[in-house]
Amino acid sequence: MKEYIVGKFTDIFGDSTNSKVYFAPGRVNLIGEHTDYNGGHVFPCALTIGTYAVVRLRSDQRLRFYSLNFEEIGVIESSLDDLKPREEAQWTNYLKGVIWAFKQKGYQIPCGFDILLYGTIPNGSGLSSSASVEVLMGYILNDIFELGVSNQDLALIGQFSENSFNGVNCGIMDQFAIAMGKKDCAIFLDTSNLEFQYAKIKLDGFKIIISCSNKKRGLGDSKYNERRRECEEALAQIQSVKKVGTLGELSAKEFEEIKDSILSEVNRRRAKHAVYENVRTIQAVEALKNNDLVRFGQLMNESHRSLRDDYEVTGVELDTLVETAWEIEGVIGSRMTGAGFGGCTVSLVKDEVVDTFIQKVGKVYKDKIGYEADFYVVEIGDGPCKL
Ligand code: GLA
Repeated sequence: MKEYIVGKFTDIFGDSTNSKVYFAPGRVNLIGEHTDYNGGHVFPCALTIGTYAVVRLRSDQRLRFYSLNFEEIGVIESSLDDLKPREEAQWTNYLKGVIWAFKQKGYQIPCGFDILLYGTIPNGSGLSSSASVEVLMGYILNDIFELGVSNQDLALIGQFSENSFNGVNCGIMDQFAIAMGKKDCAIFLDTSNLEFQYAKIKLDGFKIIISCSNKKRGLGDSKYNERRRECEEALAQIQSVKKVGTLGELSAKEFEEIKDSILSEVNRRRAKHAVYENVRTIQAVEALKNNDLVRFGQLMNESHRSLRDDYEVTGVELDTLVETAWEIEGVIGSRMTGAGFGGCTVSLVKDEVVDTFIQKVGKVYKDKIGYEADFYVVEIGDGPCKL
């Protein structure tokens, strides 16, 4: 891989002397969806697929970007003096946003660079190609300019750039999962205080399968920010009857006692999801500790039902993938993962039925939706690194 992308860098930018090569993973969330901006828990892991970059510093302020995933766009140019989001800057807005965020936080970025990217995560799939690119950019700046930023802070800077530069009000889960990733482990993260624990995922006898709906989505044009607003409205009304800082602080019992303070029926269901999903995530990690995979899978399935019926972020594509998976014996659990509205599902599947799964879910999906889904058997990998 390294040789291949350095070769491409030379083709595009003419010379790769003194270039450096880096990698940052994608992520999949096993359970704990739409809880991270509600002060709840999440349980994601980094993947061995992700984004590669070749970088070479320049002596001036220019920035030149190229992606092997968008070759038709060609080289996009900018400069350190022009760090503003621009539509024509396309995917490079994620990188520019991170450079901008570093400068906002007071770090010196003394010179520009040429950078070539190659992503092995399907774009817009819900496996966080954007957060992968953000953490990658942060990791590179930190390494090349020796800025001394911790990986946890790289996650926060990535989130800050996405919120403030790219206008997507995402939570901390994706950037954290990527920056703090650890091979064979999922991260049990409390988003209210960023305390976390690594939990070993022993993939003995089963695989993690990502089913990609190929329904494209971008967080910016999705209803993501709307869901966030609905939760904030619900919380504000709860606060008129109970002293509470986030929905994640509520137990299911407490929620049931005060839920009538939420005036809109829709917002009540949004808040219900946030509260119960947080509880499910805590229970799922407990089940895993007890080696109770069956329970873990049931909680994944419940998570999907809640995202489908109460949070309403699934849609016919994701529901078809998940509901078909549920019918297959040997599927431990299956649910949508990420923001929803398209993107991917994650399923835990016994080794012996992996082929059946791909065949059956693929066929039902194609027949019903009219185009193909893609399937990836994934592995849990480490956070960002220099290659
Ligand atoms: C996106 C956001 C995350 C999180 C998930 C939903 O991936 O970037 O912060 O909110 O959606 O769980």
